Amino acid sequence: MCGIVGYVGPNRDGRAQDVVMEGLARLEYRGYDSAGLALIEGETDGGVASGVAVRKRSGKLANLKQLLQDSPMPESTTGIGHTRWATHGGPTDENAHPHYGGEDDRLALIHNGIIENFHSLKTSLLEQGVSFRSETDTEVAAHLVARAYDECKDLTEAMRRVVNDLEGAFTLLAVHADEPGVVVAARRNSPLVVGIGVGENFLGSDVAAFIGHTREALELANDQIVTITAEKAEVIGFDGTPTEGKAFHVDWDAAAAEKGGHSSFMEKEILEQPTAIASTLLGRTDAEGALVLDELRISEEQLRAVTKIVIVACGTAFYSGMTAKYAIEHWTRIPCEVELAHEFRYRDPVVDQHTLVVSISQSGETMDTLMAVKHARELGALTISICNTHGATIPRESDAVLYTHAGPEIAVASTKAFTAQITACYVLGLYLAQLRGGSYAEEAQQVMRELHEIPSKVETLLAGMDRVREIARFMADTRSVLFLGRHVGYPIALEGALKLKEIAYIHAEGFAAGELKHGPIALIEPGQPVFIVVPGPDTPHGLHGKVVSNIQEIRARGARTLVIAEEGDEDVVPFADEVIRVPQAPPLLEPLLTIVPLQVFAAELASAKGLDVDQPRNLAKSVTVE
Ligand code: AGP
Repeated sequence: MCGIVGYVGPNRDGRAQDVVMEGLARLEYRGYDSAGLALIEGETDGGVASGVAVRKRSGKLANLKQLLQDSPMPESTTGIGHTRWATHGGPTDENAHPHYGGEDDRLALIHNGIIENFHSLKTSLLEQGVSFRSETDTEVAAHLVARAYDECKDLTEAMRRVVNDLEGAFTLLAVHADEPGVVVAARRNSPLVVGIGVGENFLGSDVAAFIGHTREALELANDQIVTITAEKAEVIGFDGTPTEGKAFHVDWDAAAAEKGGHSSFMEKEILEQPTAIASTLLGRTDAEGALVLDELRISEEQLRAVTKIVIVACGTAFYSGMTAKYAIEHWTRIPCEVELAHEFRYRDPVVDQHTLVVSISQSGETMDTLMAVKHARELGALTISICNTHGATIPRESDAVLYTHAGPEIAVASTKAFTAQITACYVLGLYLAQLRGGSYAEEAQQVMRELHEIPSKVETLLAGMDRVREIARFMADTRSVLFLGRHVGYPIALEGALKLKEIAYIHAEGFAAGELKHGPIALIEPGQPVFIVVPGPDTPHGLHGKVVSNIQEIRARGARTLVIAEEGDEDVVPFADEVIRVPQAPPLLEPLLTIVPLQVFAAELASAKGLDVDQPRNLAKSVTVE
């Protein structure tokens, strides 16, 4: 999500524009919908510069390059550049970064991430007479750093004063005309690396930004600020204590650097899930801890009057909806149907003004889902889009939108968007529960706290996937794999099967475990691999025991049982050929964990078969035809 470049070169070597633009081009893979750069202009030896020049454009880098031809920038030693993936405010020229701070336009700032408390900070700045030119949370930070600079006349100190007041996840880079030859950057829970050159230094969201110039880099810890000049890179903590970054040598080539050194985008995106979930939870509560929705254009009265929810989506997004149905009905007591968007559109659904139609789409451009949303609106329903792509068609065609903040998903097989979609659906469910009152309204904040614990659990889980990878490599020649689950584990079984079909071209089927004896058990023969997603022992209605019985039934018929079970669940051990452990979590939150080994399994098996993991045959990332 967003690409960031910073550069300071030697005196009188005015190639900052070229270096920054090259870095932005190398970061294009991250996905973006606008781009811009800022250069210090009118530099003199040792003195202040005349100003900071900014050029920015919505759309692809080609638009920015055209602007640079039409309106050339000055030669400069110092620059920052940004590719933006819109979060707060649509992908427009005005919302593109950099943003000026202050009234004299002598400071420019770029930002990756989300400033969670920007509403209150902006309100306070507005009350003090500050005017804004964009809808972004970033511009708030730009004005705050500019004001701090006016007081302390030191860009590093100004940045330090401001970051301590910001909540959320962010990387910020700033330049000031009074300090030519300096770029200051700060990071909290958002990527930033320093490139160490000879007589020049770099900043980037990842090493791809500067790999054409240097392979020597510095890793920063969270809550650190780095100040680069042509000669040095100095690091301090947010408390001002001097510290040091961790030096490392980059031995990836440019293509590997784009993938963060991983073999595929899918692998990288699987590993990004802790961040995707955490970012999707960011900024969803107000100062009192109550849930709030983005860009809500539906009144609370209308939402209170909802008598039915229909979720429409396709593929992985559909399975995220199936997963969320269990929680939404449980928390809101509103009946919730989940339907494939292409089926919903072409039957005669019972929908009226008290029906809330929730569409889920990573791309926001899936034609089947778009048509379902349009149809729902024609029928008078209220429509909310859960979407990962700011400004896409589906959110624009909906009454309200709740964005997932998973960042761009490049691999065709969806992974981090899936867990982010479940997270967003849960936020919506809790919001509705809160609005409608009742017992779950009080529990909403407790569930939010439990959700906030999920990213670190996913992190732990991801760190222990070696055995899953071994199993996948061992199974590279397998021709058929079955997946069983129950309750929220059922859609996870379906999604696990879809992953394997999509990228490993293996016949894979997911079933509700309770359905086994109604047919699918006939497929079990000696050696048939079956993944079983086991609910935690605390799941109500004794479902855990029922699924353990299912494992016994298929094992007795020769199945090779690959059991995904909670830490500490010993009941499964006697009947499992392999036990894959996941951290304990409340039953409704388990899917955010149990899907992870299935994603890893599919990616590893596909790559063991020598297949293109990111671009499987016959599939497109965004299906824009019906
Ligand atoms: C998932 O791995 C697939 N690529 C596919 O099922 C996808 O989820 C579906 O086409 C919906 O896409 P969307 O989320 O962009 O609407």
